[in-house]
Amino acid sequence: MPSAAAAAAEAAALVRQLAAEGELSAEAAERRVKEIAAELAVRGTYRQHTRELLLGTRIAWRNNPQCIGKFYWKGLEIRDCREVGGVGGDERALFEALVEHLRLAWNGGKVRLLLSVFAPSRPDRPGPRVWNGQLIRYAGYRRGDGSVLGDPGTVALTEAVRRLGWRGRGTEYDVLPLVVQWPGRGPRWFDLPPDAVPEVPISHPEHPWFEGLGLRWHAFPTISDQVLELGGLRYPLAPFSAWYTCTEIGARNLSDTNRYDKLPAVARGMGLDTSRDRTLWRDRALLELTAAVLHSYDRAGVSIIDHHFATKQFVRHEERERKSGRGCPADWSAIVPATSGSTTPVWQRRYEPTRALPNFSPHSAPWPPDGAWPPDGA
Ligand code: ARG
Repeated sequence: MPSAAAAAAEAAALVRQLAAEGELSAEAAERRVKEIAAELAVRGTYRQHTRELLLGTRIAWRNNPQCIGKFYWKGLEIRDCREVGGVGGDERALFEALVEHLRLAWNGGKVRLLLSVFAPSRPDRPGPRVWNGQLIRYAGYRRGDGSVLGDPGTVALTEAVRRLGWRGRGTEYDVLPLVVQWPGRGPRWFDLPPDAVPEVPISHPEHPWFEGLGLRWHAFPTISDQVLELGGLRYPLAPFSAWYTCTEIGARNLSDTNRYDKLPAVARGMGLDTSRDRTLWRDRALLELTAAVLHSYDRAGVSIIDHHFATKQFVRHEERERKSGRGCPADWSAIVPATSGSTTPVWQRRYEPTRALPNFSPHSAPWPPDGAWPPDGA
């Protein structure tokens, strides 16, 4: 948490920025700056107006250099959950609010851009958070021989929730429970109800055998391991849902060798020669897997965007920002899609990953290192 003086400076910068963007008059902004400074002096924190929360969070997204979807920044909707759970911390109420978030974001397949804001940290009491990097993720079980069943990307979290007593079914796609924690209290886990976890089975438009691979993915991502840094306040739990770009699933989650590593299985199905890299079996399998993802989400009526459209929108966003007199902070390696990068308009461009507030920044892993659970004295 920033000091009261730093918070006052950050808050003033945000309010003046909103004025500069035409959201309130300069006089109203200066009145609000004084009001916030006074509240900070007394309480060490302040309560943001709902509108500051909404407009500021949209700017935090616009400032984030990692996201290719910022074209839609003005379409982000906010759910105000700052009161959920009350002072003592009610983990079940928090869990239920997260489930409700998933249902609202899903929206029957027409995925919404939705962020729920929970209690901010205060000088005397940090806000609640979840252990999960995303609200919906599959478990990764490390086996005796070192291999992993499920998602190798979640082995540490899976081991942590198993130490808390959770037991999965032991399939390749077991949805992890949500682990909710208030600082100073023990973590509690809750299994998500199936209707809050829409998934899409992956099939291919031309290869009937593809469905037999049994691949699937959750319908949309909900990032839950980022702190929202807004106007001098810090919101440690601000889960953000959006639709997928097909390459995130086809060219990363299901194909990275340190994730589901499915290219060899796809290539075998396609009858490719996998004995040498030079046959380009990986490239061919990667393309068909990504095509299968796009096809399957379309067929299931679930919002998804392809990387060509996404990058075109990104360039339009950059131009719009330039016309508004702003830059576009971006990290080239995060914006260029995982396949066919050179066929998209972002490839030739250069970006500065400038860090501006408001923004999102990643949490560190909340669970103690291997073997240290429960921590002494807990
Ligand atoms: N790449 C992450 C995943 O595969 C999700 C990151 C956010 N993506 C998004 N489309 N909003 O789950």
